[in-house]
Amino acid sequence: MLTLFISLFLTIVLSALTFKFVISDGDFTLLSKRHVKREEIEDKVVWITGASRGIGEILAKRLASLGAKLILSARNETELERVRKQLTGKHAPEQVKILPLDLTSGEDALKDAVDKAESFFPGVGVDYMFHNAACERPKTTALDVTEESLKATFNVNVFGTISLTRLLTPFMLRRGRGHFVVMSSAAGKTPAPGQAVYSASKYALNGYFHTLRSELCQKGIKVTVVCPGPVVTSNGSGATTSTTKVSSEKRVPAERCAELTIIAASHGLKEVWISYQPVLAVMYLIQYMPTVGYWLMDKVGGRRVEAAAQKGNTYSMSLLFGKKKAP
Ligand SMILES: NC(=O)c1ccc[n+]([C@@H]2O[C@H](COP(=O)([O-])OP(=O)(O)OC[C@H]3O[C@@H](n4cnc5c(N)ncnc54)[C@H](OP(=O)(O)O)[C@@H]3O)[C@@H](O)[C@H]2O)c1
Ligand SMILES: *[C@@H]1O[C@H](CO)[C@@H](O)[C@H](O)[C@H]1NC(C)=O
Ligand SMILES: *[C@@H]1O[C@H](CO)[C@@H](O)[C@H](O)[C@H]1NC(C)=O
Repeated sequence: MLTLFISLFLTIVLSALTFKFVISDGDFTLLSKRHVKREEIEDKVVWITGASRGIGEILAKRLASLGAKLILSARNETELERVRKQLTGKHAPEQVKILPLDLTSGEDALKDAVDKAESFFPGVGVDYMFHNAACERPKTTALDVTEESLKATFNVNVFGTISLTRLLTPFMLRRGRGHFVVMSSAAGKTPAPGQAVYSASKYALNGYFHTLRSELCQKGIKVTVVCPGPVVTSNGSGATTSTTKVSSEKRVPAERCAELTIIAASHGLKEVWISYQPVLAVMYLIQYMPTVGYWLMDKVGGRRVEAAAQKGNTYSMSLLFGKKKAP
């Protein structure tokens, strides 16, 4: 009788957990933190790169509504102004600072930008640096990547981002506090057939920032690495340039991605994953059962490149079973 009860109980618990996993849009630790710790965001100075559109724009809106003091960066000043006008929160849009910046413009320009960002709000420097900007990511096979696109991707995603960090961190160290929130990607945790260089750039970021934290966490520097799978911005197209066509991919809304990112940052989580299935499951497999995970990716890799070429669903389960998606 007792064993019957126990096995029934276990079955129910396991089914509930499985169900929860199937419908989840983030890793278990992240989803256990339900709300933003507002006091960690309110009145803090938050600098966001790539704030002119996509996830960065949504992050800016949400952070403003939480009472953060914002500095918005990207190359396009017109777009930054457009975003600024739409912000609402306890600090009025006029107090939001626009700091046009090209991450590829070299050390001197980056140094200038850091000096400006540090002096915008009297008496307080940058509390959070949201590294969100990234180069466009056309889909090609690993071998078809052009030299130009290889350099462009690394110049923005890796070299620009790291240089900015290296220049800003000393200011944070002097204050004994500072927090980097890094928009990495699921492609920084698992193979991403059709996006080898993008994936390489995100793996590079993960390596740099987890190492930076290990060196400086005892001096007050925090790092939150955020790894989203497919995300859709409110315009309906994937924010990625790769999926300009309508696609059937199940993508997390940018608003939800931004909310989970801010939850993660405000709770000081070190790494979080944001995605629907099957990408989330693949991330767990690669992390905890790499032999199985890489076997699976090898199965889908070739077909996924084909699907990408046709702008089909590159995350479909059907890739596993050999069905090709119509464009
Ligand atoms: N969307 C997704 O499905 C997805 C999934 C996983 C991870 N992510 C990551 O999330 C972040 C945001 O993605 P997103 O899709 O919202 O990006 P997006 O729409 O392509 O926007 C990229 C942003 O970066 C800025 N940027 C590009 N090149 C720059 C440069 N040289 N210097 C300074 N800023 C530059 C752009 O502004 P300007 O053109 O005005 O400079 C723009 O604001 C990226 O790091 C991306 O890798 C996105
Ligand atoms: C949505 O599309 C409009 C018009 O194409 C554009 O002006 C706007 O910046 C886009 N918004 C986002 C969040 O990408
Ligand atoms: C910036 O955005 C505006 C408005 O969307 C656009 O007209 C302009 O061409 C963009 N500027 C650059 C340098 O891309």
